[in-house]
Amino acid sequence: MIVLGFESSCDETGVALVRAEAGAPPRLLAEALHSQAAMHEAYGGVVPELASRDHIRRVLPLARQVLGEAGVGLADVDLVAYTRGPGLAGALLVGAGVAVALGAALGRPTLGVHHLEGHLLSPFLAEAAAGDGAGSGEAALAFPFVALLVSGGHTQLMRVAGVGRYELLGETIDDAAGEAFDKTAKLLGLGYPGGPALAKLAECGDEHAFALPRPLKHSGDLDFSFAGLKTAVLTQLRKLGPSPSQRLRADLAAATQAAIVDVLAAKALRALQQTGLSRLVVAGGVGANRGLRATLAAGARRLGARVHFPPAALCTDNGAMIALAAALRVRSGLDEGTRAGAFDVRPRWPLEELAPAA
Ligand code: KG4
Ligand code: ZN
Repeated sequence: MIVLGFESSCDETGVALVRAEAGAPPRLLAEALHSQAAMHEAYGGVVPELASRDHIRRVLPLARQVLGEAGVGLADVDLVAYTRGPGLAGALLVGAGVAVALGAALGRPTLGVHHLEGHLLSPFLAEAAAGDGAGSGEAALAFPFVALLVSGGHTQLMRVAGVGRYELLGETIDDAAGEAFDKTAKLLGLGYPGGPALAKLAECGDEHAFALPRPLKHSGDLDFSFAGLKTAVLTQLRKLGPSPSQRLRADLAAATQAAIVDVLAAKALRALQQTGLSRLVVAGGVGANRGLRATLAAGARRLGARVHFPPAALCTDNGAMIALAAALRVRSGLDEGTRAGAFDVRPRWPLEELAPAA
């Protein structure tokens, strides 16, 4: 089965082809991505209308590129997948519209995929990829596992028993971890998206130079709270006066990153202990953060557990994870896809709604 997948939920247009044959791990045949980050930078965040228009401009050239690179004709595509939600309504409609139109023209089924399910399952693609050194020689990823989903819009811990079987263990009660990176980066005068910029500045800073709070770290549950961190950073910045030195800004960036990473890691490791599971998957854009990766890897080792990280390129939004999730759902008998029918998008769509009736 060859799946053509489209991702357009936010500010990345992603298209990918995945091949999934029975008994073999799914393989990525080709993928293409266009990030709108530079376009939105001037506004300090994603402008929904501009995002939709840019998806329209990019999506078909990217699809042609992917088909060309893989040497796959449209007639070879068995299923067309797209991100149904959650995300920006107008942006989602672009991917959905193209996918459903293509499916109708080709006489192939289409499947609307949950964006977070794409993130959750993405490590399976990485582990199957040839030349991926990260997991070589170690146990391959298998269900069940704990997933830490950390993106610009979500921060959740899930127990993943199988494809489509997700149980929410805890989540943020206010801002997402990516949002905390983006908002504090903005306070520090860094560009958008703030996560990578803040992480870069933090590299030459001293995380102990400022004491920042670790909200809910010892709350006993698996929930998060990041809104207070932004206020704490703002308070520190005010004390530093109008133009703090580059060194002090780097120190504050390092302290901010350390505070976010510390809480994320503490809760993720607690989730492993509470569930008794020994595999942790980290997914979503913040999963690209090297500090988070190092802290989780060390913590998991102490527990005798293993952390599975998709490569950084698969952590942020992409079409490959959407094609993969569609392939795995169909292969698991959860969906067959919809033939030439109506389509809809779900800008707000709790992942728990995907869980099959017990
Ligand atoms: O999953 P994603 O690409 O898009 C959403 O679905 O939200 O995540 C984007 C988020 C942004 O908040 C971005 O600042 C953050 O991931 N991010 C990072 C890093 N790379 C991306 N945060 C911290 N460190 C990074 N290296
Ligand atoms: Zn995402």
